Amino acid sequence: TKQKLWGGRFTGKTDPLMHAFNQSLKYDQRMHDVDIRGSIAYAKALKLIGILTPAEEEKMIQGLETVGQEWKNGQFEPAPDDEDIHTANERRLSELIGPLGGKLHTGRSRNDQVATDMRLWLLDQVNDIEKSLKGLILVMVGRADEERDALMPGYTHLQRGQPIRWSHFLLSHAFSFRNDLERLQELVPRISVLPLGCGALAGNPFAVDREFLAKELGFSSLAENSMWGVGDRDFIVEFLMWASLTMTHMSRLAEDLIVYSTAEFGFVTLSDAYSTGSSIMPQKKNSDSLELLRGKSGRIFGNMAGFMMTLKGLPSTYNKDLQEDKEPLFDTVDNVSASLKIAEGVIATLEIHEDKMRQALTMDVLATDLADYLVRKGVPFRETHHVSGRAVALAESRKCQLNELTVEDFLGLHPKFSEDVVDVFDFEASVERRTAIGGPSRQTLDRQISVLKAAL
Ligand code: ARG
Repeated sequence: TKQKLWGGRFTGKTDPLMHAFNQSLKYDQRMHDVDIRGSIAYAKALKLIGILTPAEEEKMIQGLETVGQEWKNGQFEPAPDDEDIHTANERRLSELIGPLGGKLHTGRSRNDQVATDMRLWLLDQVNDIEKSLKGLILVMVGRADEERDALMPGYTHLQRGQPIRWSHFLLSHAFSFRNDLERLQELVPRISVLPLGCGALAGNPFAVDREFLAKELGFSSLAENSMWGVGDRDFIVEFLMWASLTMTHMSRLAEDLIVYSTAEFGFVTLSDAYSTGSSIMPQKKNSDSLELLRGKSGRIFGNMAGFMMTLKGLPSTYNKDLQEDKEPLFDTVDNVSASLKIAEGVIATLEIHEDKMRQALTMDVLATDLADYLVRKGVPFRETHHVSGRAVALAESRKCQLNELTVEDFLGLHPKFSEDVVDVFDFEASVERRTAIGGPSRQTLDRQISVLKAAL
């Protein structure tokens, strides 16, 4: 009769509900590949310290490779007593190679094993996510490069503020993602720390060569304290925090585009590929992709906050609470990966309407430029701000645009006005005056683009 891997000291049976409650295989089986990789490296290390003969090592590696293949081909058959991916793989290994399989776990614990698997798995995912994030930034940069002619109002408080280029708007979001990319890259050295060889908590009694293991598995450093090595999940927290911030940026971008895609704004049209309809209102085209990007951010933050609560107050080293690291991490990786790809598709296929953006550029967004005009004639800004404000009020009382005021009207507000005030009322010129680094002029956009490209 089959027994649990840890069954020796037990006489009573596990309650069936407890069995299911404890079982993580349904979600941790996605680590099957890294679990096998870790075990192959460990088998090699066991040979180096004489626990396995070269022939045994070879047989064990072949067995492990077969188990790995079974997973890949969808042929792996879980047994009812497989508690998690680690026990499942070991059970299957022993079925294939007999009692020799029982030597694999010498000096190893599921505690150092699972921590190793999680780190290996996350390193692979971070690599993929990094590529997707770069892809998104690249699409944003490409559009910004091509569409610099499009002018639109820039908003503060969702009120029209000053003229900008559409490209400038788009790149403002790209810079948030550029920082997310840097932060993601900075996580890698702290994920790439090898716990294998820490044992259950007190280290490995067979002098296993951990530097060899790190090299085999591609880790950049070793857990220097075995108790820390089995109990640390900060690398997961950091990733969840990273994801929360990245998704917050995603959500703000989505919100802008949702607003800009309303009929009232009409600056952009989402492609059909990323929109959905209404089951009752035939005319509707809803920006569900963007709303999901915005909505996912809450869930990702919840994963982070939830796992922080799991860690808070845990005693040292391994506790089964730590099995609760998997679902929030997997869910976060899945949703962030999908979000990045969706966002890239949305941006790549978005249609922009320059005419609508132009129409939204009312003359009042040049009120700052009007104040700056007097500044250039030597008037202190605090005074010019007030004068420009009075010009806005005058136009408002006449129900006309700022540029429809006459030179006489302007002279009535301040003696330094002259004929050339008409030159103020040019959106392109306003944007092109903003040549200080960081501004929306063509030249400063070039710089933004090259800074972003350098990060890719
Ligand atoms: N499935 C467990 C987890 O994910 C593996 C470690 C179990 N260790 C233990 N001592 N029960 O955390």
